[in-house]
Amino acid sequence: MESTGNPNPEAVTQAASPPDGRVEGRSLPRVIAVANQKGGVGKTTTTINTASAIASMGLRTLIIDLDPQANASSGLGLDVRSLQATLLDVLIDDLPLADCVQPTDTPELFVAPSSLRLADAEMTLYSMLSRETRLRQAVNGILGEYDYIFIDCPPSLGLLTLNGLCAAREVMIPIQCEYFALEGVGQLLENILKIRRSGLNPELEVSTIVCVMYDARTRLADDVVREIRNHFGGIVLRTVVPRSVRLSEAPQYGQSIHMFDPRSRGAVAYRDVAQEVHDGAATTAR
Ligand SMILES: Nc1ncnc2c1ncn2[C@@H]1O[C@H](COP(=O)(O)OP(=O)(O)O)[C@@H](O)[C@H]1O
Ligand SMILES: [Mg+2]
Repeated sequence: MESTGNPNPEAVTQAASPPDGRVEGRSLPRVIAVANQKGGVGKTTTTINTASAIASMGLRTLIIDLDPQANASSGLGLDVRSLQATLLDVLIDDLPLADCVQPTDTPELFVAPSSLRLADAEMTLYSMLSRETRLRQAVNGILGEYDYIFIDCPPSLGLLTLNGLCAAREVMIPIQCEYFALEGVGQLLENILKIRRSGLNPELEVSTIVCVMYDARTRLADDVVREIRNHFGGIVLRTVVPRSVRLSEAPQYGQSIHMFDPRSRGAVAYRDVAQEVHDGAATTAR
């Protein structure tokens, strides 16, 4: 299928395979950047609902909301206009990450909230020393406190996303089961390779691809899922997340799908996603 665009197959294999050949049994804590430079493809929905399902397994989990739109923060019930401390203070003023972390209604799930002013911060960051690794420095200070850290990246390949990709060990890419789904993914993979080769983050690997917004009524959706599996092979999760209105309603109530409607198809799918992700972890504790 030509219509979905073709990421360079070489970049796919290289970005997926870790440099040292390590594949299974990733040790905790795992730091996973959820990235795709297209907007509206399901990054935030995937972050919130995968992370909250993992937290519900009793694993201490942090979501870092790196998107100035702050959808992950508000989707977890925070009033983003009234926060005293946010990632902005962390990235620009060296506030320890722990000092901006907020609890959520889900036990074991925490969020480091974004600020609507984070977009301005991206400009300020450009002139700062070690501008690509400021988030990584902050994350290093709290690594021992969590089993999982998910970084919800903004829809761009700018400096904020670069900070997310430098702070993470793994990248999880949600891909919509639609026309042109793979458009831009090739560019993301090339960037990941560049980040590895530049030495900024030599261990970064694309560990997980998840097909989302699957509409069983269209044959196209099946074609796209097949194409994604052909391109990316074993890193594509078996679980496919369906298009479901309930998933899009939950954030308005500041709830994950598991609180909002735990029996819905979307909730079941994201619990399966979480289980598949955690199946890739080593059994040893952090
Ligand atoms: N599986 C799904 N079914 C229905 N709506 C979805 C699904 N996943 C995401 N959405 C909705 O699509 C929109 C974009 O999703 P979002 O997760 O915010 O994408 P991104 O973070 O990549 O911009 C949101 O309104 C969200 O509620
Ligand atoms: Mg988002």
